Amino acid sequence: MTTTSEIMEVEIERILPGGMGLAHADGKTVFVSLAAPGDRLRVRIERVQGNVLFASIVEILAPSPVRVEPPCPYFGRCGGCDFQQLNYEAQLAAKTGIIRDCLQRIARLDEIPEFMVHPSPNNWRYRVRATWQIDREQQEIGYYEGGSRRVCDVAECAVLMPELQQTLERVRATKWNEFPPDLKHLDVVAGEDGVSLSPPFAEFNTSELSLRVGNEVYNYNAEAFFQINPALLPSLIEFALSDVGGETALDLYCGVGLFTLPLARRFTKVIGVEANSVATRFARRNLELAGLANARVMTSSVAEGIRNVRSADFVLLDPPRAGAESIVIKRILDLQAERISYVSCDPATLARDLKKLIVGGYAIESIAGFDLFPQTHHVETVVLLRRLS
Ligand SMILES: C[S@@+](CC[C@H](N)C(=O)[O-])C[C@H]1O[C@@H](n2cnc3c(N)ncnc32)[C@H](O)[C@@H]1O
Repeated sequence: MTTTSEIMEVEIERILPGGMGLAHADGKTVFVSLAAPGDRLRVRIERVQGNVLFASIVEILAPSPVRVEPPCPYFGRCGGCDFQQLNYEAQLAAKTGIIRDCLQRIARLDEIPEFMVHPSPNNWRYRVRATWQIDREQQEIGYYEGGSRRVCDVAECAVLMPELQQTLERVRATKWNEFPPDLKHLDVVAGEDGVSLSPPFAEFNTSELSLRVGNEVYNYNAEAFFQINPALLPSLIEFALSDVGGETALDLYCGVGLFTLPLARRFTKVIGVEANSVATRFARRNLELAGLANARVMTSSVAEGIRNVRSADFVLLDPPRAGAESIVIKRILDLQAERISYVSCDPATLARDLKKLIVGGYAIESIAGFDLFPQTHHVETVVLLRRLS
């Protein structure tokens, strides 16, 4: 029987959803963190769960040809970037494999249309949004360590855009007696006109920012969701909206209106639904500033917000990582929209929900991945569906 702390030798076959490397040894399945496909490794078993062993690398016996030296000094401790050991092509290939794996295993799709993961124009210094964890007792500021709630103290983060890095340095230089006593984390976001922080303290404000994405301008602050990597957003929006147009569109989980504005240029009427009232205030203002009076934004859970909507030509949904609640999928199916665009930051919950949409009468038209999160295993996926008549 294999026990924790045992050492074994493995060869990594591929990268799995969740970012771990897959190996097989002694009749067991081994998940190895921070591995590269093709690595030959000596690993230590950290946890045993039935026939699955969770392991960490002790020694690289023969490195994969796609392995690179992770440039960040916090790699391995900070839970933020778990793909720095892979060259960028291998990161994209792993993400393609992760999406495909979820569609095959969870959505049970036999035939998957050809698709690609669009690369990020910047692989480093791309993040415009972050959450910094605070450990007041240890006087540490940074990100959670991998698989724990311990804060890894980070002085420099290589994926933050320069304005956020400078803000991190200013936050770290602030005297501890100026921090609110019960502060656990800080949300921070950058725009073209500065940086916004929530909650505000010392010299830091929850200022309102703006950013142009394609032909639209969006206002937002650190209390509302905004996508992490704006450079890829124009192509993501273009793919998600494809050639849709018509009478009525729904934008579910609409945030500050990233998709609501371009949808309002294509449809006679648009309804956006979003639970965060700060985000809906910005969404309404963004529509007004764009001169778009044909969209209505509801502050509501999606489940409640669409309860009384009878029909729609097009539904776009962009839920958080947990995916859409079962009742939301059921209500979307009741709308009988001709087309659906599902934008997701978690291929596993996406696949779970796609399975229900397909059983409910939809077929996949096209799929694309967008690498909004270089150096991590995370990937944004967009799936366009069409109702079978
Ligand atoms: C992934 S973000 C997408 C936002 C927007 N589509 C964008 O791209 O900027 C998900 C959004 O769903 C909102 N949200 C989470 N759960 C919700 C729910 N049950 N009902 C409505 N909105 C929800 C969050 O506040 C967040 O703004």
